[in-house]
Amino acid sequence: MAGRLARFSISMDEELLLRLDRHLRRRGYTNRSEAFRDMARQILSEQQLKNPEVEGVAVLSIVYDHHRLDLPARLTDLQHKNIKNIVCTLHVHLDKHHCLEVLVMRGKAGDLQKTCNILVSLNGIKYGRVNLVVPKNLLP
Ligand code: NI
Repeated sequence: MAGRLARFSISMDEELLLRLDRHLRRRGYTNRSEAFRDMARQILSEQQLKNPEVEGVAVLSIVYDHHRLDLPARLTDLQHKNIKNIVCTLHVHLDKHHCLEVLVMRGKAGDLQKTCNILVSLNGIKYGRVNLVVPKNLLP
C-alpha cells in the first residue's frame, strides 16, 4: 500500500556524491532513489528502537562450542524461559565442535535486546550478532 510519490532534489558536495555513488554501486544499487528510501527506513527504524516498548523482530545468530560443559543446556533453558518472544530456532552443526544457532524473535524491542544480551554474553559463545528491526517502518 504505497502512498503518493513525492519528488525532491538534494544539494551535495560533488566529491561526497561521487563517493556515495561508488559506494551504492558496490552495494548493488542501480539508482539513488532506492538507496535513499532504504536509508530513510534505516534511520526511522533505529529511532524507533530507542523506545523499548516498540514491537520489533530480531534475528540472533550465535556460534558456540557444544563441548562446553553446560552451555547447550543453559541455551535451551534460557530459550524456554523466553518462549513468548522466540518464534523459531535453526541449529546447524558447523563442524566437529561448533554449532550455529539462529533465533527469530518478536516482541518489545527492550525485551528482545535484553534476551539477546543474556544469550550472547554466556560463557562459551564465540560469536553473537543481533539484527533488530521494527517491521512497520519497513513499509512503504
Ligand atoms: Ni550442533
